[in-house]
This record gives sequence, C-alpha cells and structure tokens, in this order.
Amino acid sequence: MFDMKRSRIKELFLSQPIGTDVKICGWVRTVRSNKNVSFININDGSCVENMQVVLSPDHADYKLLCDIHTGTCVSIEGKIIESQGSGQSIELLPEKLMILGKADPQLYPLQPKEHSLEFLREVAHLRMRTSTFGAIMRLRHAMAYAIHKFFNDRGFFYLHTPIITGSDAEGAGAMFRVTTLDFNNLPLNEDKTVNFKEDFFGKETHLTVSGQLEGELGAMSLGQIYTFGPTFRAENSNTTRHLAEFWMIEPEVAFNELQENMDLAEEFLKYLIQYALDNCSSDLNFLNARFIKENEKKKQEERDEMNLLQKLEFVVSHPFERLTYTDAIEILKSSAPYKKKKFQYPVEWGVDLQSEHERYLVEKHFKKPVILTDYPKAIKAFYMKQSDDGKTVKAMDVLFPGIGEIIGGSQREDDIEKLKTRAREVGIKDEDIWWYLDIRRFGNAPHSGFGLGFERLMLFVTGMSNIRDVIPFPRTPKYAEF
Ligand code: 4AD
Ligand code: MG
Repeated sequence: MFDMKRSRIKELFLSQPIGTDVKICGWVRTVRSNKNVSFININDGSCVENMQVVLSPDHADYKLLCDIHTGTCVSIEGKIIESQGSGQSIELLPEKLMILGKADPQLYPLQPKEHSLEFLREVAHLRMRTSTFGAIMRLRHAMAYAIHKFFNDRGFFYLHTPIITGSDAEGAGAMFRVTTLDFNNLPLNEDKTVNFKEDFFGKETHLTVSGQLEGELGAMSLGQIYTFGPTFRAENSNTTRHLAEFWMIEPEVAFNELQENMDLAEEFLKYLIQYALDNCSSDLNFLNARFIKENEKKKQEERDEMNLLQKLEFVVSHPFERLTYTDAIEILKSSAPYKKKKFQYPVEWGVDLQSEHERYLVEKHFKKPVILTDYPKAIKAFYMKQSDDGKTVKAMDVLFPGIGEIIGGSQREDDIEKLKTRAREVGIKDEDIWWYLDIRRFGNAPHSGFGLGFERLMLFVTGMSNIRDVIPFPRTPKYAEF
C-alpha cells in the first residue's frame, strides 16, 4: 500500500476501477461536512472533474480534517467505489490520508465560490487551480499539439526562427529593444547618438515581431515550413485582443499562390477546431456551460445566438466566405450602421478596416468566417505581391466572429525590382534585407504564407472574451507580473 504508484484522476474516471486500491494526489477544491460524513473534492489538474473522497468521523485520519481546506495539497490512498451520490460515477473511500501542503484559509486567495476574472488575473500564480483556467490551459496544450500534428502530417517542417532580430524590416509593429548597454554610461558617437557597435551584437537588436522573413528562407529551401514561437509587439494597445507577448504560427509554402494559401488557412483552422471538439470534450463542455451562463447575463441585443459548442460546430461545417476588400467596402457602404452613421471610423476605399467593420461583415452580414483579399497596397506590408491593377496586393485576412482578424497573410512579392522599390518607399534600405532579396535573386519562385495569432484562436475555442485569460501569464502595457 505504501509507495503506491499515483493514479491521475482523469485515468480513474476513464477506467472506473471499482474495488481497486489507488493513490491520488491533488489540491482540495471543496470540503463539505455534516455530522455523519465529510466530502472532500480533489482536483489534480489532469481533468476538469474532481474526485470525491468520502471520510467518516470514525476514520483514523479524521482528525486531519481541521487542516483540510480549499487549496490544501493532499495524498490519499483508498478504494474506488461506485458513487452513492448523483454528481459523479465513482468516489474514493480513503484508507490513508496525508497532508502534503497546508493552505491557511485566512490567507489563501481562492475561495470555493465564483471569483471575477479581473480578480483572478491578480492571482495568476494560482488561477490555474480553478476549473475555468484548468480547462483553458489544457485546451491550450491540446491546440499546440494539434498545430504540430497538422503540419507534421502534411510534411511541413518546424523551423525555429530567431527571437532576437537585427532587422526591423517587417514593420508589423513597434519593437522591444534588446541591449546590454549600461543606460547610465552609454557609449556615444561623435554626434552624440548611441554607438551600438559597442552593444552585445555590435548593432541594434530587438525582439521579433514575426518569424516570416526568415520563414520564407526556410520555405525556399525545404519547400514548406512553419514557425510557432513567441512574438513581441510594443504597441500601446490596451484591448481585449492584444498582448505585448503572444504566440504566432506562421506557415510558409514555396509554389503556393494566394488561392492555395487561403485553402491552407481554412483547412488549418477547421482542423484545429475539430480537434478540440473530438479530443477535449469535457473541458469544452465545462466552458460551454460557463459561456451559456455569461451569455445570459448580457443584454438581449448583445447576446450570442449560438452557444460555444454550436459556434465551433458551425465553423467546421460551413465554407468561409471569400471576397475582396473592394467588395467589402461596397457592402459596408450600403450597410445600416454606415447609413445611420453608427460606425466610429470612416469607410472609404483605401482605409484600413477597423474591428467594428470587420465584425459587422462577419457577425451581421455574412454570419460566418470571412476571408478578405486584395487589400490596397498602401495599407499592407512591403513584401506582399502586387497585383496587375497597380493598386492592390495579394493579401488575405481571415476574420472570425467575436474576434475580428485571426489570421493575416499573403502571397509574397517575387519580383525583385518591385520588392526593392516598395521597400525603399517604406524606408527599408536594400542592405538591411540583403538576404531577403537574395531569395529573389537565386532560385526564385512564387510563395505564400500567413500568421495565426495563437491566443486569438484560443479566444475563439474557449469562448473567453479577454486575451489576458487565454495565456498563463499575460504581458500588456504596464504589466509584467509573475
Ligand atoms: O497580421 P500580422 O501582423 O501578420 C504578420 O505578422 C505576418 N508576418 C504573418 C505572415 O504572413 N506570416 O499578425 C498575424 C496574426 C494576426 O492576425 C493576429 O491574429 C495575431 O497575429 N496578432 C496578435 N495577437 C495578439 N496580440 C497582438 N498584439 C497581435 N498582433 C497580431
Ligand atoms: Mg494583420
């Protein structure tokens, strides 16, 4: 009985080993007692379900109960029996109970009641012990696994692009500087500017905003690659959709044009959502119940027509709507909110679409995911392939209900002269991207790719509404705790 191998609660619920002696270790969620019996609910993180331990007052370890509270870590050996109650299929009749770590109920921040998400962000070091955050983090893991599986099964190679970058070519957003210079004693040039030749890398360096440019080098060698790594943007945007540190998945495929790029993006998103439906049902059911409860609290006109599971099922079973930016502008101009001047931002060919416009198209007009293509050249990155009309580029954004942009991508400019001209127009010197230009010089070919924001995907899959709640430890302006 001693030195027994620990079982994970998930496995016990799966195998239902009634009559067997087992050992579990985990954290107490709730304790309920009456004069005949105490029920201790234990969660070990393996699944959303708790194991109910039934302790009677004549048990030798009953005296330990005074130290067993929400948050206490315990190890329990005992027999699995069919549950007498209705809440669960099996429960544990303890033989030996041990306290591994106490949690003073006067000090432990989590109580056996519902806490607000705002409060839980302040105790992010403990929030993964709640059912909601346990479910989210397990789903996050499952999605990361499914991403690797999707690409591996299709012959893509995982390429590790650098996190510290010496080029600011992407222009995707403001960057965080990486330096070892002493701010109190900066080496200066004669003109009083900082002499970065003295810095660690001998030049200015930053945290990457995207692995794409290096990803293209991989695709033009290995055929098809993907990156999946941390990405940093120093924009001061305090929204429910932006993080300063997030994770991005960037596939890049040689010989693909925009059409195939869209097909890949749609197949990829549907695969991931189907994977969650097929493999994460108990966590999804828990989050669905939560979603329904939250939805009911909303004002009638803000309520979702579908619950979380229905939304996920809907996306996998309907083709995404595909249309050009130009057509989208036409739709927006003849929309009710435009005519009633309800949009805050202007709608005009050439403007960058704001999230209010994207969400109108997705949630009100088409009522399904939308892929917008062929954006004006002026509002997109220098590397996107220019179309023959001279005005648009072969860009694509995938827009999702409740999220807005979840994927951004394009076919890449493979005409070296057009690429150089456009880069210079936006202030990028040839020598800053000499290696990127070389790809167009040696063995050039059409190629395409896109970037999926991992946390935006997690928002959709979990039904959460703030991006700070789908990453363990969010980094946002003025916030880098834990
Ligand atoms: O549209 P973006 O900026 O595209 C790129 O970075 C390209 N290099 C991708 C490519 O073609 N390989 O970003 C891609 C996605 C967005 O659609 C969004 O989902 C997510 O990354 N994203 C963010 N997610 C969280 N916080 C932020 N600050 C984000 N910025 C972008
Ligand atoms: Mg974008």
